[in-house]
Amino acid sequence: MSEKLAALGGSPVRTEPYPEWPVHDERDVAAVTDVVKSGRWGGYPYPGPRTQAFLEQFAAMQGGGYPVAMVNGTVTMEVALRAAEIGWGDEVIIPAYTFQATAAAPMAAGAIPVIVDVDPQTYCIDPRKVRQAITEKTKAIIVVHLGAQMADMDEIMAIAEEHDLLVVEDSAHAHGAQWNGRGAGTIGHFGSFSFQSSKILTAGEGGVLLCRTPELAARAASVVDCGRPHREYGADSGYTMGANYRMTEFQAALGSVGLERFPEQMKQREEALAYIEEALSEVPGVRLLKRDVRHTRRSFYRYVFALEPDVFGAEHDEVCYALDREGIPCWNGYPAMHHYDLFQPGKSRLPVPNAFPNYFDFGKMDLSEAERACEHEAIWLDESIFRAGRKGMDDAVAALKKVQAHAAELAAAKERLLAEELA
Ligand SMILES: Cc1ncc(COP(=O)(O)O)c(C=O)c1O
Repeated sequence: MSEKLAALGGSPVRTEPYPEWPVHDERDVAAVTDVVKSGRWGGYPYPGPRTQAFLEQFAAMQGGGYPVAMVNGTVTMEVALRAAEIGWGDEVIIPAYTFQATAAAPMAAGAIPVIVDVDPQTYCIDPRKVRQAITEKTKAIIVVHLGAQMADMDEIMAIAEEHDLLVVEDSAHAHGAQWNGRGAGTIGHFGSFSFQSSKILTAGEGGVLLCRTPELAARAASVVDCGRPHREYGADSGYTMGANYRMTEFQAALGSVGLERFPEQMKQREEALAYIEEALSEVPGVRLLKRDVRHTRRSFYRYVFALEPDVFGAEHDEVCYALDREGIPCWNGYPAMHHYDLFQPGKSRLPVPNAFPNYFDFGKMDLSEAERACEHEAIWLDESIFRAGRKGMDDAVAALKKVQAHAAELAAAKERLLAEELA
């Protein structure tokens, strides 16, 4: 059996750090300097010239849509709903496995997020559960292309058409990804993108909303520019209820430089993915998520796979802890949406506590797949592993094999390790 786990006092598999993110060079410095010297720093008048250029470049890379720039990838979704006049009392279906932004955005627009379970093969929203959740108040579905997966857009769009619903693709993890050759975020009515620091295309902060029509884009542009009338792409928004969510020229300048590097990085990650998947599939107790042939370009944020705890011999929390100590950056993922404090009686910060008992009565809802993924199974490998050559990936797999070989010891030490961690 291989040497003692680093978590239990042995030496780590890897001591060399993985490459840092974001990648930057003199081009970023020059781009920011240029903005400083131009005197045109902010987003007003909106959009600024660099912002407009970034929008065009991004939409061309992603493959379509009428793009509107914003401050982040949360307000993009709020603005999408507001541009489509979805708000008070309307229901918006969202998946139970996602970052809190996917729920916060409809709530900020005044709508109610209706949380449904995910497909255990992809961890993305389960179209069958979407169907069951539709009522006469349902107005939209927000799907999340989670980790390295895409939601089943064929099924989702068929349901949306049948019930006359809008679809927002939360594509914060899917810059460059394609489904049947079409870019993530260009298939639904809206595609929402984040450029926050950890994202695979970053401007520090920032967001772009790809809209299906000029009318939706003009209204979205108005909402983010304090409600001023906008004439984006030939459509006239008139006045709207808006606030200042404008992207600055600094962000756009950094985004454009990031886009120059993006195609090469994407190619490198996709090739690395094929390599690591083969190696991971040989580790006992590792279950790879579905490789859907319709997911034609796998550009991804983090690589997510599932543990089968009974076979592996330990659960994802302690495995992530042990991998981290072996020098492999990883994460056990988001909590399931129904475990967020926001929805817990007594901890809730909802404006009117327990205002929506019928919606957030989780005891009556079946969210068991999200529960299993979030509480026991999911492991998110950091993106930096995919930029560290074969050695970087070999180290990650070797560490996982080492942890698996010592899984019983690790599981036995779980309570002590947890106590030390919290101490
Ligand atoms: C799935 C998902 N949706 C939305 C967001 C929100 O993006 P932002 O941080 O730019 O608001 C994030 C991450 O930050 C995310 O991971």
